[in-house]
Amino acid sequence: MKIIMLGAPGAGKGTQAKKIAAKYNIPHISTGDIFRANIKNGTELGKKAKTYMDQGLLVPDELVVDLVVDRVNQADCENGYVLDGFPRTIPQAEALDRELAKLEQKVDFAINVEVPDENIIKRMSGRRACVDCGATYHMVYAAPEKEGICDKCSGNLILRDDDKPETVEKRLHVYHEQTQPLIEYYTQAGILKEVDGTVDIDVVFDAIVKILGE
Ligand code: AP5
Ligand code: ZN
Repeated sequence: MKIIMLGAPGAGKGTQAKKIAAKYNIPHISTGDIFRANIKNGTELGKKAKTYMDQGLLVPDELVVDLVVDRVNQADCENGYVLDGFPRTIPQAEALDRELAKLEQKVDFAINVEVPDENIIKRMSGRRACVDCGATYHMVYAAPEKEGICDKCSGNLILRDDDKPETVEKRLHVYHEQTQPLIEYYTQAGILKEVDGTVDIDVVFDAIVKILGE
């Protein structure tokens, strides 16, 4: 099963993608996580990506597409995957479709997690991410057992650099300009599924499982 998660920054794509990956036993591929790992490790890719990410801008397509194409061609992706944060532009979606067509494959579901802009800024200010393993929490909606400490690895929890309110506003603007057109793209392809992302995390997940099947 090949699944794409769509939605504004902070809509809950990552939260739901992790749950999907666990239930259906497929890899969770997050381009944002891949870039953050590269930044942490000080790679050339990380250095380039950081200059865009810190401004709330998209990393150029040419830095993203090859990376994802390589990743989905790895052995653990044989039974499918859930893509989180990719594609984010029409050229990225077209590149993915072209790559899959070579293998006579296609995307099965594009799930759009819908959350209005006014909820997003509130949500992002409460998000905390683990510096060591990247696990995501929310101070109100998904709090760790001990404040400021990751449940999984005891790493410190921090506010992401790009979660400052002014950067979130920029990211939302970029989302509407460059990523929202994908909703029409996948509607045309007949695979778009919408879920309400404003309800509890488990309720959103139940709606997704109804779409994907048990
Ligand atoms: P990326 O990491 O993909 O960021 P994003 O799309 O902005 O998404 P987020 O990770 O911010 O949010 P999310 O929807 O996953 O929400 P989450 O589950 O964490 O990308 C970062 C940057 O990398 C981009 O800005 C860009 O520069 C670059 N980049 C990445 N991919 C790229 C690409 N393909 N092309 C070009 N550039 C690219 O949830 C948010 C918070 O809300 C959490 O605290 C969570 O606990 C909480 N929450 C989740 N669901 C609920 C709920 N139902 N109720 C209450 N709280 C909830
Ligand atoms: Zn951790």
